[in-house]
Amino acid sequence: AATCLLPCSLISSWKLAWASLQRQSLHTAGRHCKARSGAEHLWLTRHLKDPFVKAAKAESYRCRSAFKLLEVNKRHRILWPGLRVLDCGAAPGAWSQVAVQKVNAAGAEPSTPVGFVLGVDLLHISPLEGATFLCPANVTDPGTFQRIQELLPGGRADVILSDMAPNATGVRGLDHDRIIGLCLSLLDMVPDILQPGGTLLCKTWAGSQSHRLQKRLTEEFQNTRTVKPEASRKESSEVYLLATQYRKAKGSVKD
Ligand SMILES: C[S@@+](CC[C@H](N)C(=O)[O-])C[C@H]1O[C@@H](n2cnc3c(N)ncnc32)[C@H](O)[C@@H]1O
Ligand SMILES: *[C@@H]1O[C@H](CO)[C@@H](O)[C@H](O)[C@H]1NC(C)=O
Ligand SMILES: *[C@@H]1O[C@H](CO)[C@@H](O)[C@H](O)[C@H]1NC(C)=O
Repeated sequence: AATCLLPCSLISSWKLAWASLQRQSLHTAGRHCKARSGAEHLWLTRHLKDPFVKAAKAESYRCRSAFKLLEVNKRHRILWPGLRVLDCGAAPGAWSQVAVQKVNAAGAEPSTPVGFVLGVDLLHISPLEGATFLCPANVTDPGTFQRIQELLPGGRADVILSDMAPNATGVRGLDHDRIIGLCLSLLDMVPDILQPGGTLLCKTWAGSQSHRLQKRLTEEFQNTRTVKPEASRKESSEVYLLATQYRKAKGSVKD
């Protein structure tokens, strides 16, 4: 739980700083900050005041990003009991926690269908009741792809979530190109994994190549929209693409 209050993208870089802060009260943490650089201080001050961080702690989500998925789901209703979900870039597991609840993957609601959640990440993910984790594993690696197909009931998912992001270098153009590349690699797997009529939600960072991704999604899904949840920090270029009603899947439908 030590990492659960961090924005997931910062976990690796802040792990050490956080570990030392964990041993102190928030009050002393505030004072401790003053010794830090201006940017670190600013980040930490903002982080400690963040209502989504507080809510994540209160509701025991592993990280504040849970609220982004909760919000998208509230507005667009993409998860319901019985669905099979593939969560790409799942560590530390907050989206998987939300998915397990919404698709009833742990069978907590006896009167509704039981779904399935498979989370994949390069990093280790602590066990979660109702979820299956494949880690450490690279989603875009052909070997992983085969394991994903084997693990999904019926070999397909109804919903593919991707909060995957490369480690940011801070060079906006480069980071943008990399995340678009990652999304496009994921899209290459979609015909073999996504159920016709299915949904894809993927994280991007806005930039010059976004139209390439959008074009492909528009070709392959009946409906594509851009979503920027409230829980996504306004100053970040993060935007999610939500594509619904997947048109076709390799070898399963003729249209
Ligand atoms: C923002 S975090 C995800 C947070 C997660 N949605 C949650 O709520 O707990 C992004 C994750 O994507 C993972 N990632 C990036 N590229 C990946 C790849 N090629 N295969 C698997 N995971 C990847 C990173 O390791 C990182 O843990
Ligand atoms: C994931 O696998 C792809 C394809 O093998 C490779 O190009 C990419 O560099 C790998 N990513 C990481 C973070 O290892
Ligand atoms: C990001 O960095 C961490 C720690 O250095 C590493 O374990 C992880 O694989 C990296 N993620 C990507 C997407 O390259």
